[in-house]
Amino acid sequence: MTDHLSRRSFLLASAAAAVVRLPESQVLADASASPKRPIIISSANGLRATAKAAEMIGGGADTLDAVVAGVNIVEADPTDHSVGYGGLPNENGVVELDSCVMHGPTHNAGAVGALRNIMHASQVAKLVMERTDHVFIVGQGALDFARAHGHKEVEMLTEDARRIWLRWKETHSDRDDWLSPVKATSDNKHSDAMDEVAFTYGTIHCSAVDAKGDISGVTTTSGLSYKIPGRVGDSPIIGAGCYVDNEVGSAGSTGRGEAVIKNCGAFAVVELMRHGASPADACLEVVGRIAEHTRDPRLLDDQKRPRFDVKMYALSRDGRFGAASIWSGGRFAIYADGRNRLENAKYLFKRS
Ligand code: GLY
Repeated sequence: MTDHLSRRSFLLASAAAAVVRLPESQVLADASASPKRPIIISSANGLRATAKAAEMIGGGADTLDAVVAGVNIVEADPTDHSVGYGGLPNENGVVELDSCVMHGPTHNAGAVGALRNIMHASQVAKLVMERTDHVFIVGQGALDFARAHGHKEVEMLTEDARRIWLRWKETHSDRDDWLSPVKATSDNKHSDAMDEVAFTYGTIHCSAVDAKGDISGVTTTSGLSYKIPGRVGDSPIIGAGCYVDNEVGSAGSTGRGEAVIKNCGAFAVVELMRHGASPADACLEVVGRIAEHTRDPRLLDDQKRPRFDVKMYALSRDGRFGAASIWSGGRFAIYADGRNRLENAKYLFKRS
């Protein structure tokens, strides 16, 4: 389904149905039909995360310990400018991290937002789940909480990321996230904040299901580059950037967080799976809703398609998996049937 009109027809047709079903001619095959568990899915930057999680689950680890250990590799990697150490900073040059975790067997969750100076935001999110009666701690409170649990403060802005930020500040400083009344309403004059060259929403999501059918998920990010300080995206929001129901499956997202939040992305994917959709179809349905609900002209191209991308990733309790993005070219990391590899995601619109 690569055209906006057929997408609209499908959405109208499916609105009438209790369970969303794609028209027979457009049924998408799942990436896999119930392969042998464990299954671990991640965003394309997560091949090392899926390998690590598979190794740990193979050794008997809990699925949440495994996926957090997996994404910790990417959080500590200075060459990934979308996650953790080396992540691109906010508009003031400060790296601010968002993360959440969800543990299927206990249906428990934890999250941190706008966390500064800490290497492993996902570990702190897990501590919020395990060592507090809360779900979500942000800003200075999250930093104080991390320090109380022995996390050392470190400078998260690498030289490389600082140079990229400085180039943005010197050459693109009018391309920011502040909207004047004119900029917010001008018909079809998009904000340069949507320029993918200047801005990045990259993130890592990782979910796993083990042989018992227990499921966990984690999402962690440095968020939108050059964001307004304190901006929190979808990644730490349970139901947006990650959601797990141990009876059904898990889902997570990367890409423009504002769009995922407004469509309860991960929760919607899991609910669609609960009502019978396959993981890939559920992801495609949700990126379709996001496209359909994007009405602001500055976010749309001349064919009224979103100028941004969102990717959804999902796996089911029985081990099926899939991913979908608004734009073609998306990939995801998958460990299944003992093989770790990248696969192509389904998509709504083909990039020209
Ligand atoms: N999805 C990452 C973000 O929007 O911050």
